[in-house]
Amino acid sequence: MSKNKKKNYLSGSDSHKISKENRIITKYLEKLRNDSKRDPSQYITSMRDENNIVELDNVCTYFFTDIGVVRAVDGVSFDIPKCSTVGVVGESGCGKSVTSLSIMQLLQRPTGQVVGGEIRLSNEDGTAYNIVNTPTSVMQEIRGNKISMIFQEPMTSLNPVFRIGAQINEVLELHHSEMTKEQIHDRTMEMLEMVGIANAEGVYNMYPHELSGGMRQRVMIAIALACDPKLIIADEPTTALDVTIQAQILDLLRNLKDKINSSIMLITHDLGVIAEMADYVVVMYAGRVVEKGTAHDIFHNPCHPYTIGLMKSKPVVGKQVDELYNIPGNVPNPVNMPDYCYFRDRCDLCDHERCSGKYPSEIRISDTHVVSCHLFADKGEVVGRSQIIPNSQLLEDRVEYNKNRKKKMAESVNANGQTDKTGAREDK
Ligand SMILES: Nc1ncnc2c1ncn2[C@@H]1O[C@H](COP(=O)(O)OP(=O)(O)OP(=O)(O)O)[C@@H](O)[C@H]1O
Ligand code: SF4
Ligand SMILES: [Mg+2]
Repeated sequence: MSKNKKKNYLSGSDSHKISKENRIITKYLEKLRNDSKRDPSQYITSMRDENNIVELDNVCTYFFTDIGVVRAVDGVSFDIPKCSTVGVVGESGCGKSVTSLSIMQLLQRPTGQVVGGEIRLSNEDGTAYNIVNTPTSVMQEIRGNKISMIFQEPMTSLNPVFRIGAQINEVLELHHSEMTKEQIHDRTMEMLEMVGIANAEGVYNMYPHELSGGMRQRVMIAIALACDPKLIIADEPTTALDVTIQAQILDLLRNLKDKINSSIMLITHDLGVIAEMADYVVVMYAGRVVEKGTAHDIFHNPCHPYTIGLMKSKPVVGKQVDELYNIPGNVPNPVNMPDYCYFRDRCDLCDHERCSGKYPSEIRISDTHVVSCHLFADKGEVVGRSQIIPNSQLLEDRVEYNKNRKKKMAESVNANGQTDKTGAREDK
């Protein structure tokens, strides 16, 4: 106990040093994010595959806290194909929500930052946005319009002091300035009816507290779908609801997705929901993807010991067991991740000789199925290796960025014979 205490102990000066370094890094990242004059060539790119709506490539999202860097998402890569549902599963704290918040650029800033990788969002004109580099001002046009999100708890997502109608209208007013007041009202009524609210006119004038949990979640779906987004992110949309309402909401989501030809990224703990809804499944553990494939691959041929453990811990109707299986142990501390397989200390199938090496690479074991485990090292081709981004690299990037800015400023002074008013002074 005392040894453990010592291991995790941070003195005042350690903590001061960490927060000073964090401030330098987050200030630099915030400056990049808020640069509304950023050249579009830095965030306009193209998709690897035109059939995908979103592609995540080696995405790293870190929280720069006073006790150290929390590597919440560490080299996550997966695709969301057009008009499909991708289920993301994993136990609590494995980085599902942080992945979705990274796509929306809704992380708690300045502590939370996407520090590496690419998140490409397909645009209608054949180009794509790299959301990681997209400035906040451009993101405001994308959020709610091209991508929208349904949160777990509707009561905390709806504003308690505004009527339901006003909250749906607001989304349309923001993204469709060409619509008249009447058109917005009609569209809101249409949305309320589409999500199965019987008394649409009455609900339009109600406050959130006057609705049931299921109705509130329907309103959240109406808000999310008001602008016909191409991607709907549903972060545990039915966890707060009872099973009957849960089935209705899932049915509704599935039907609406087909109606507006969008894709769903469905985050849940519930493998039953995934089996029912998802075309593709991504299994996450401790901020990394450990296995991904079609729903058939994952449910009929789970390969990673963690996925096998998740499957075993699912209750099966008609199968009597004295005790449900649970995966022993806990997820490692996200501030001090080991450099070997993160699952090693909990793994039943650990082969000490093979598994003592570096974190396993991603191995493609079929066209659609990828697993990250040393047991499959000679059963397929290596397709990816996720990398940790050390603070030293971020600090070097910042120095490089400041150098380039200084150079640009000097060039603009030489060209105009006066100081560039947009040029900021160098950070201390
Ligand atoms: N604002 C924050 N500051 C510091 N760490 C954070 C913050 N938000 C999330 N984290 C850390 O990031 C990791 C991933 O969290 P995340 O919310 O993505 O988990 P999750 O997979 O969605 O879990 P759950 O199923 O419980 O919702 C956790 O270790 C969490 O402690
Ligand atoms: S790499 Fe080894 S320890 Fe990790 S999941 Fe595979 S078998 Fe288990
Ligand atoms: Mg979550």
